[in-house]
Amino acid sequence: MELRKGLEDIAIKETSITYIDGDLGRLYYRGYSIYDLASFSNFEEVSYLIWYGKLPTQRELADLKSHLAEERNVSEEISTFVSKVAKTANPMDILRTAVSMMGLEDRREEGLVTKAIKITAKIPTIISLIQRTRRDQKFIEPDPSLSHAENFLYMINGEKPDLNFSKTMDVALMLHMDHEMNASTMACLVVASTLSDIYSSVVAGISALKGPLHGGANSEALKQFMEVESPDQVEKYVLNKLSTGHRLMGFGHRIYKTMDPRAKILKDYAREVTEGKPTERLYKVAEKIEEIGIKILGKRGIYPNVDFYSGLVFFSLGFDTDLFPTIFASARVVGWTAHVDEYLLDNKLIRPKAIYVGDLGKKYIPIDERQ
Ligand code: CMC
Repeated sequence: MELRKGLEDIAIKETSITYIDGDLGRLYYRGYSIYDLASFSNFEEVSYLIWYGKLPTQRELADLKSHLAEERNVSEEISTFVSKVAKTANPMDILRTAVSMMGLEDRREEGLVTKAIKITAKIPTIISLIQRTRRDQKFIEPDPSLSHAENFLYMINGEKPDLNFSKTMDVALMLHMDHEMNASTMACLVVASTLSDIYSSVVAGISALKGPLHGGANSEALKQFMEVESPDQVEKYVLNKLSTGHRLMGFGHRIYKTMDPRAKILKDYAREVTEGKPTERLYKVAEKIEEIGIKILGKRGIYPNVDFYSGLVFFSLGFDTDLFPTIFASARVVGWTAHVDEYLLDNKLIRPKAIYVGDLGKKYIPIDERQ
């Protein structure tokens, strides 16, 4: 039996949700280029596309928008829990537990996508509760007249975002929605394949996304930009980092061997939202890290990934640094649940093998005779 560490190059299902061309740096959701979706679409429309497999009609989009808006409130139990731990616990741990609590409130008769819509609608409320509690700010009730992205920023900052900010948020969320068989989606499928419930799957997804090699890389990438005083210090910083065995965070990808298209799109938004602001310095440093990083690592196919510029975008939109992975989760939940739905159409228990390399036939020695 062949050992494939990290399941590299192993396909575990067929999908019609997302296609990635890692050599050319292209990404498609349901056949639509991510560049077109980022330019012309929005969070709700792309969620519909990912869940239902086609672009919605006006009526279908309006229905999904109002469904998402209606489901934004969380139960008192969840809001009490989140407020209680917001100042001390890791935001991904809080989110994981809050989604688990949603599972306790589950109405069994509802279909998978209806449950997915509920979870998706409530995650921004949980994230804003965490940030505003930590800052001793009053909780902002969700505003059903606002789009998903606008309302998310409104609940974080306490004021309605301008068009620039809401478009940036919409795009950032769309870019994070799905990415074929990444580690967190795989974790969701492992749980789903046992015929467990969707809340348990999403909890597994959040758990996998939390790590710094996956969704945790966005805050790590921003920390790098903060560590460097000015662009002329970048070369020394990068060389020192790599020669001491550290990785450049926000660089490298299992599938992309060129620049991740999501990073290209986010770079433009990062430039726009930082222009003329104190954060412009961070953008300039980031751009230089990109240049030097590609010069050193590009020949090995290691380029900026989605997490390279996303942290700077989220930071500029008003989010605390350690909340970035939760924002990633708030969008990826659409892809997780769509993949679970797709997988269950033709379910097969995920049960790979391990190659045993230990001894066999050892003699059991009673404890008082052991050395
Ligand atoms: N900086 C320096 N070296 C790197 C980097 C990096 N960012 N990424 C990979 N390498 C090197 C690595 O050291 C290894 O070298 P060697 O063969 O000499 O030991 C080689 O490239 C292969 O690395 P790997 O970890 O075996 O390859 P992988 O396909 O498992 O890596 C990765 C994918 C994302 C885990 C890795 O590129 C990485 O750790 N990047 C930094 C963290 C990061 O930005 N994660 C976000 C990923 S994209 C969005 C998401 O999924 O959340």
